[in-house]
Amino acid sequence: MKDNEKELVDLDEEGNLQENEEKKDIKSNKKDYSFKIIATIIIGGIIILSCIFIGKKYVTMNHIELIVTDNYDEMSQKAGSIIAELVKKNPNAILGLATGSTPIGTYNELIKRYKNKDISFKNITTYNLDEYCDLNQNHPQSYFTYMYEHLFKHIDINLANTHIPKGEGDSELNSKNYENMLNKNKINLQILGVGGNGHIGFNEPGTHFDMGVHLVQLHNKTIRDNARFFENDINKVPKKAITMGIKNILNAETIVLMANGTNKADAIKNVMSGIVDINIPVTALNIHKGKVYIIVDKKAASKL
Ligand code: GLP
Repeated sequence: MKDNEKELVDLDEEGNLQENEEKKDIKSNKKDYSFKIIATIIIGGIIILSCIFIGKKYVTMNHIELIVTDNYDEMSQKAGSIIAELVKKNPNAILGLATGSTPIGTYNELIKRYKNKDISFKNITTYNLDEYCDLNQNHPQSYFTYMYEHLFKHIDINLANTHIPKGEGDSELNSKNYENMLNKNKINLQILGVGGNGHIGFNEPGTHFDMGVHLVQLHNKTIRDNARFFENDINKVPKKAITMGIKNILNAETIVLMANGTNKADAIKNVMSGIVDINIPVTALNIHKGKVYIIVDKKAASKL
C-alpha cells in the first residue's frame, strides 16, 4: 500500500466522507498532471514538425554575442579591438578578410594600432572571402586593389602571405586551388559584412551551406547595390564572382560580423531571430561551432 493511500485509510477510521473527498482530489490531480504532459508533448511535436515543414530550424544561440554601438566609428573600434587582441595573442594568426564599405573603419583602426606599435602583422596570413570575375586585379574596384589600398600598403604584412581568390582565368581551377589552400590553413578569425539580401561573401540566397569555394552568378539586387562602386552603372558591375562557400566561412574558429545602416536591419533581425534558412545566408552563423560576434550600429539594430 502506498504511503498516501495508507494515510487515507487511517483517516478513514476517523471520518469517511472527508477522506474519500481527499482521495478523489489526489486522483484528479494525477489525471490533470498526465493531461498536461500529453498536451505538452502534442503541442511540442506540432511546433517541431511545423519548423521542419517550412524548412527553418530554430536553434539556441549561446555562441553569438551581439554588440550594439551608437555609430559606425564605435562599431569599427569594437571590431578592431577584437582583431587586435587576437593578433597580439597569436602573432602567426590566420585572418579571413572581407571587402565592401563596412570593414573600412575596422581596417583604419588596425592601421592606427599598427602605427602606434601596438600590433604587428609581420607573421600574419590572410585569406579574402571573394573576388569579382573577369575584372583585372589592378582594376580600381577589384578586391585585390581594395585590400592593398585599404589595408596592406599601410601595415607590415608580407604580401606573399595575403591571398585573394583569382577572378580571371579558369574559374573552376581557381576555385579548386583556393579551396585546397583553405583546407590546409584554418582561419582563426573571419571578418564578415553582410549584403542587403543577407548574403555573406558572395553567397547569394539559396546557396547550400555545405558548399566550398565556387563561382557565383551575382543576383540583381547585389549588382544594383554594388553599382555605387562602378559609377552607378549596373552595366559596369561584374556579373560573376568567386567566393568562399559558407562551409569555408563556418570553418573559421571565430567570426566577427559587422553591419551598419538601416538597409542591413532585416538581415540582422533574421540572424538574431535564431532561424537557419538557406534563403538568408547570414543565418548560417546560427549553426557555427565557434564564437560569433555580431557588431552593429543602432540603425542596423533598429528591427531587433
Ligand atoms: C559585397 C561583398 C560582401 C560584403 C557586401 C556588403 O557584396 N562581397 O563581402 O559584405 O558587399 O557590402 P557593404 O559593406 O559595402 O555594404
